[in-house]
Amino acid sequence: MATYTHDVLIIGSGAAGLTVALNLPDTCRVALLSKGQLTSASTWYAQGGIAAVLDETDSMDYHITDTHIAGAGLCHDDAVRKTVENGPEAIRWLIEQGVDFTRFDSGDGGTQEYHLTREGGHSHRRIIHAADATGVAISSALIRQVEKRANVERFEHRVAVDLISEQHNGTRRCTGAYIHHIEKGDTDVFLARSVVLATGGASKVYLYTSNPDVATGDGIAMAWRAGCRVANMEFMQFHPTCLYHPKAKSFLITEAIRGEGGHLLLPDGERFMQRFDERGELAPRDIVARAIDHEMKRLGADCLYLDISHRPADFIINHFPTVYAKCLQLGIDITRDPIPVVPAAHYTCGGVMTDLNGQTDLPGLYAIGETSFTGLHGANRMASNSLLECFVFGRAASEHIASQINEVPPPAAVPEWDESKVTEADEDVVIAHNWDELRRFMWDYVGIVRTVKRLQRANHRVQMLKKEIADFYSNYQISNDLLELRNLVVIAELIIRSAMERKESRGLHYMLDHPDAADEIRDTVLTPENISDPS
Ligand code: FAD
Ligand code: SIN
Repeated sequence: MATYTHDVLIIGSGAAGLTVALNLPDTCRVALLSKGQLTSASTWYAQGGIAAVLDETDSMDYHITDTHIAGAGLCHDDAVRKTVENGPEAIRWLIEQGVDFTRFDSGDGGTQEYHLTREGGHSHRRIIHAADATGVAISSALIRQVEKRANVERFEHRVAVDLISEQHNGTRRCTGAYIHHIEKGDTDVFLARSVVLATGGASKVYLYTSNPDVATGDGIAMAWRAGCRVANMEFMQFHPTCLYHPKAKSFLITEAIRGEGGHLLLPDGERFMQRFDERGELAPRDIVARAIDHEMKRLGADCLYLDISHRPADFIINHFPTVYAKCLQLGIDITRDPIPVVPAAHYTCGGVMTDLNGQTDLPGLYAIGETSFTGLHGANRMASNSLLECFVFGRAASEHIASQINEVPPPAAVPEWDESKVTEADEDVVIAHNWDELRRFMWDYVGIVRTVKRLQRANHRVQMLKKEIADFYSNYQISNDLLELRNLVVIAELIIRSAMERKESRGLHYMLDHPDAADEIRDTVLTPENISDPS
């Protein structure tokens, strides 16, 4: 077991973590961690693009208003303004880092302009993208830049277990984390003057999700255990269109397909979205996902369909090469056939509460990106605002960390990870069973449409699982699966508790017992003192 000391510990190598790493000064010694390879992050899979005001017919006010409307009245105006106003600068920075966004010939004799697409809730074309593989373009460019930085040490296949804090001048401060090496099995101490949680979202708490395996809410659970408040965890976003095919795991069909004219169809070929919202297929995501869920249940259908085949084949192949290739592999030619789709858990709108610099309640600890709750997304995130948030808040946090770093004392030594009282787990089936049970009841009882009774059932089950998992955690050696399960049960409880507190329907939180929005507009803020710690 080793102790590593850096100035800044960044847990997570998606858009948020990479942005913080690249904006810190060269004099800062940085540790950048990832659960798998650096690319194992939701960022890698992003398709549609990044929202920013880049066209002269668009304006900051339009982007701000669209975000507030999609967020169903719950977005914080300061966070919205900060994000939108810094959007164009964030895109300039990405281009400088080498991100190759899609261009098109403007037709005036050779100049190339960036292509802007549309997605749900946006009143204007403002999504800059790299075909339908924006995440690959961003991650590859930023990782290339990080690899050139001598001050950034990269640690792959490491999972953060828990945060470390110490008392300094009467204030508790975060000074590092225990980090488990997934391949070697050791658990090391990583110390730093500042720690950044950039661990992404928690959509793996649901049985069906668009997210990669790493999205188990680790940062939110760790911050919660360390005493930080979390907010608005009931607002879990379901993406309306994930590919429905027995051989496709978690494959998203980008909303940009609807932005470029795609139609949602019932099994008999009828379009239906206009019955639910006058914006049709381009209504905000909560509305479209709920409409699909409603129609699937009404018809007893396994899936509905998304059809873009009325657009020219070369347009489809050029704009959506990733979706085209993946579907073709499975026998679906999207230039001719409708795509079978279902909603799946996609984005965590709530998270660790931060200020506009990404600072959490615990001094020295920052949370950036999907892990955080900045107030930007309200009750429903507007498409392509999440990557933008990573870049804007990532930069703000790095500037804040750099401005303070010399005033922060070096962290004191802490005890090594103690495994003397635990044994090797002999029943991995317990972990596998609990993973499955948790994700299944979250899907069935805490999904797109909720009722008081279903939430009570889910709460009853989560309390039992919590005890069982805590018992397993205190008696057996840790593994990545066990750590993720321990975090997921915390996330499930936070979602259920938040959902039970919100006695109205708003944005992504739809309760049959309370179908209307309440007059009072408020966030659901949970503080750790109020709920017993499961660990
Ligand atoms: P992530 O990119 O998820 O990175 C999290 C990092 O933390 C990973 O490196 C992971 O390995 C690491 N990690 C997690 N837990 C631990 C731990 N305990 N210890 C160590 N490391 C840990 N948004 C848009 O704006 N536009 C889009 O087009 C878009 N398309 C999307 C398509 C898909 C399929 C998905 C899943 C999401 C999409 N989103 C999109 C959402 C967006 O991609 C994410 O919200 C964003 O990438 C999150 O970035 P992040 O840096 O916060 O987290
Ligand atoms: C998509 O391409 O549909 C995903 C966009 C997003 O989640 O913002």
